[in-house]
Amino acid sequence: MHRVQARINGKDYEHEVEARLLLVHYIREKARLTGTHVGCDTGNCGACTILYNGKPVKSCMLLAVQANRAEITTVEGLAGNGLHPVQEAFLNRFAVQCGYCTPGMLLSASSLLESNAAPSEAEIREALEGNMCMCTGYQQIVDAIKYAAETMRASTGKSL
Ligand code: FES
Ligand code: FES
Repeated sequence: MHRVQARINGKDYEHEVEARLLLVHYIREKARLTGTHVGCDTGNCGACTILYNGKPVKSCMLLAVQANRAEITTVEGLAGNGLHPVQEAFLNRFAVQCGYCTPGMLLSASSLLESNAAPSEAEIREALEGNMCMCTGYQQIVDAIKYAAETMRASTGKSL
């Protein structure tokens, strides 16, 4: 067994884990944050996307022991006092159907908008290339991220 001390959504967690435990299962079963979904467990679907030290990663592709001393954000940590602008945009632009892909999409999108305040459609699609959606056909998701970018720019007074 190995001791893991992780900071998830600003809160400290400490557990003993087996060396083979995947990070996604650590997050869901040890930290009990079930907003992170499991679609494939093989790195293909992106449902398990989290932010790992600020970067989007598929948490089924990391071991729980790699969370030791890492900063992790899951969908539960995205909202502040209210919903994150990307969450608002997904609701307002009908970018959610079954919702299975949504947590991963939200984290990939929020990470993109952190580094690029005005992404083009091509840049949005590239940022989402690791996240599969079986329901929406992607266009509503792309539109929602463009809308979130606009509202974030408006709220910070940035223009193009
Ligand atoms: S569950 Fe991790 S990529 Fe599908
Ligand atoms: S909304 Fe169902 S998989 Fe994306």
